Amino acid sequence: MRSDLTSMTAVLEGFTSRKSTSDGLAAERRPVPFPNAVPVEPAVQTDDLRPVHDLRDTLQRRRSTLQYAPQPVRTGVILSLLTEALLRDRDDWGLDAAAGALEGFVFAFRSEGAAPGLYRVTAEGSWHLAGLDALGPVENLGVQREFSTAAGIVAVYANLDRADTWAGSHGYRVSAGRVAMATYDLNLRIQALGLVGTLFGGFIPSSVHRLVHSDGASRHSLLATTYACPPPN
Ligand SMILES: Cc1cc2nc3c(=O)[nH]c(=O)nc-3n(C[C@H](O)[C@H](O)[C@H](O)COP(=O)(O)O)c2cc1C
Repeated sequence: MRSDLTSMTAVLEGFTSRKSTSDGLAAERRPVPFPNAVPVEPAVQTDDLRPVHDLRDTLQRRRSTLQYAPQPVRTGVILSLLTEALLRDRDDWGLDAAAGALEGFVFAFRSEGAAPGLYRVTAEGSWHLAGLDALGPVENLGVQREFSTAAGIVAVYANLDRADTWAGSHGYRVSAGRVAMATYDLNLRIQALGLVGTLFGGFIPSSVHRLVHSDGASRHSLLATTYACPPPN
């Protein structure tokens, strides 16, 4: 069967527009801050971050899964890997000042070495925002309940307001590309450690809105990944 690409071509052409779709005043707005956030030192042993699979093995072994072992994961490992992925995004793209920085939110359901709950991560550092009880029933956060059986979930957010002011719809597609690269960067490094994880679209925005203060513009979730110990064979 051949698909008619006409409508898709029109959508893709729309993404080339550099004309801001908003008021172009994003620099005067800020994502909602977290005044009570507690800074966290990733403080991870080097051994924890040493890959057990090289790149070739990681790419050959990697697969998505909805089956997870019940063990906790060292949250410090995830915070470190995510910080490094966001640092690479900042340095490779050089767009934080013009188009906004990426942010990651780690929902640590089963945690070793750090309190479970919600963490915020940027290229500058990590902060603990809330305990597990603040999340409520975690199976209600997303559409697919299987994802909440992972040890945790990392959701990566972009500032679409800034990206749109910078370059209109082109700014949106660059943000989507940056978030995809950072999330796959994290996901593959998680899998290189012998853990598992699956990319997915993310939580229901309204279910986590009060936790991460996402407004769909200055802080908008674009992609997420689960992480967990692999289930027994
Ligand atoms: C952007 C993106 C969003 C996705 N969202 C979901 C999702 O919401 N639910 C799901 O079951 N799979 C989702 N997937 C698919 C899986 O993560 C996975 O890529 C797919 O099942 C292919 O399996 P593989 O990664 O083992 O090759 C998504 C994939 C991508 C790239």
